[in-house]
Amino acid sequence: MIANLVYQESMDGTSDSNTRFNAKEIPGAPIDPLYGLVAAYEADKSDKKVDLGVGAYRDENAKPWILPVVQKATEIYNNAKKDHEYLPIAGLPEFNSAAQRLVLGADSVAISEKRVCSFQTISGTGAVYLGGLLVSQFTAQPRPYVYISSPSWPIHDQIFATVGLPVRHYPYFRSDTKTFDLEGMMQSLSSAPKGSIVVLHACAHNPTGVDPTKDEWKKIAAIMKTNDLFPFFDCAYQGFASGYLSEDNFAVRYFVDQGFQLVIAQSFAKNLGLYGQRVGGFHFVAEPGANSQSTTTNVASQLSLLQRSEISSPPIFGAQIASIVLNDPKLFTEWETDLLTMSGRIKKMRKCLKQELDRLQTPGTWDHIVNQIGMFSFTGLNCAQVMVLRERWHVYMAETGRISVAGLNEHNVAYFASAVDDVVRTVQ
Ligand SMILES: Cc1ncc(COP(=O)(O)O)c(C=O)c1O
Repeated sequence: MIANLVYQESMDGTSDSNTRFNAKEIPGAPIDPLYGLVAAYEADKSDKKVDLGVGAYRDENAKPWILPVVQKATEIYNNAKKDHEYLPIAGLPEFNSAAQRLVLGADSVAISEKRVCSFQTISGTGAVYLGGLLVSQFTAQPRPYVYISSPSWPIHDQIFATVGLPVRHYPYFRSDTKTFDLEGMMQSLSSAPKGSIVVLHACAHNPTGVDPTKDEWKKIAAIMKTNDLFPFFDCAYQGFASGYLSEDNFAVRYFVDQGFQLVIAQSFAKNLGLYGQRVGGFHFVAEPGANSQSTTTNVASQLSLLQRSEISSPPIFGAQIASIVLNDPKLFTEWETDLLTMSGRIKKMRKCLKQELDRLQTPGTWDHIVNQIGMFSFTGLNCAQVMVLRERWHVYMAETGRISVAGLNEHNVAYFASAVDDVVRTVQ
């Protein structure tokens, strides 16, 4: 039976004392690996230390960068002296509509046919969570599988498990060639039970830095159509893959054009540098057809209930800043320039790192460093090497061998290359 959040008065209750909440029985959980890494980096007193863990853009001095366009938007917002009233449950309307146009394209037929509904969320994480909750509340038992790329952003597994959806993984990355594993993914999707949810990174895949080509996306869409699979897009890096916002939403637009019913979790943490302001969007797109508008209206009404129980209404400041940028053509153009500044510097650092490794004749091939895209590089370094990098060289990166390339700059790239050269030669 499908849950109905409004009218269902009580779930299966019990008076059995064995089921009572008892905090004494709660085991300790492991600390989040990336937040643990940040703490270890901060505690390190070395002046040589390098932070390549956190997935946040850094400037050429390894400092956070407030986008110039965000500074302007903040001034505009402050001068307007707006109040601090609650936003509607779905969030700031002008933010939602602009966020929708950004990810789907301003000319999207789904928008003109009014079969999209959008909610402002607590950044990308909150959007994935809201989508997971929607699926878990409105699917019958046994719940559909959620297929997540292997590897992926680790929080995907965590979120879908939290909302009670069973998780499976599809191959995504070939570690021998350090390229996208189209064959593995296609095989896995072709054997997935009909109705399964497939989490797709819209662009700049985290952590591998490899994306399907346009032709490969078309093949993925075709197998998902044939096999009746549900696309759940996670779009956390629009503008970071190619450097262009309108290029990086290709996969989303293509799937919508193919008539899928789908959802999109969208983050403005990275592309507007609004990390701590928690600005994101969740979009539901109904498949075209006679009932698409009423489906969208019903979904929106249930999302309102879920959002109301979770956060009541989303925070105002970050959404106002994003909205000012997204809705002003001049500021939007300035944003595009800021995005090119960020993606351009990251690309330059990829080249510098590769050049240094070539110069040192570090064993192995390092072409993947320049071939991968977005904020991350999946270096191929193993966990033991990562640990030695930390202890011997004060270099902090994820145990998977992922680096945030944005943490490199002209002052530390040669040092990092020497460190890599050392561990590749001395640690197996
Ligand atoms: C793939 C992916 N999805 C979603 C997120 C969520 O980011 P945030 O909640 O900061 O917007 C991240 C952040 O690292 C990510 O890498």
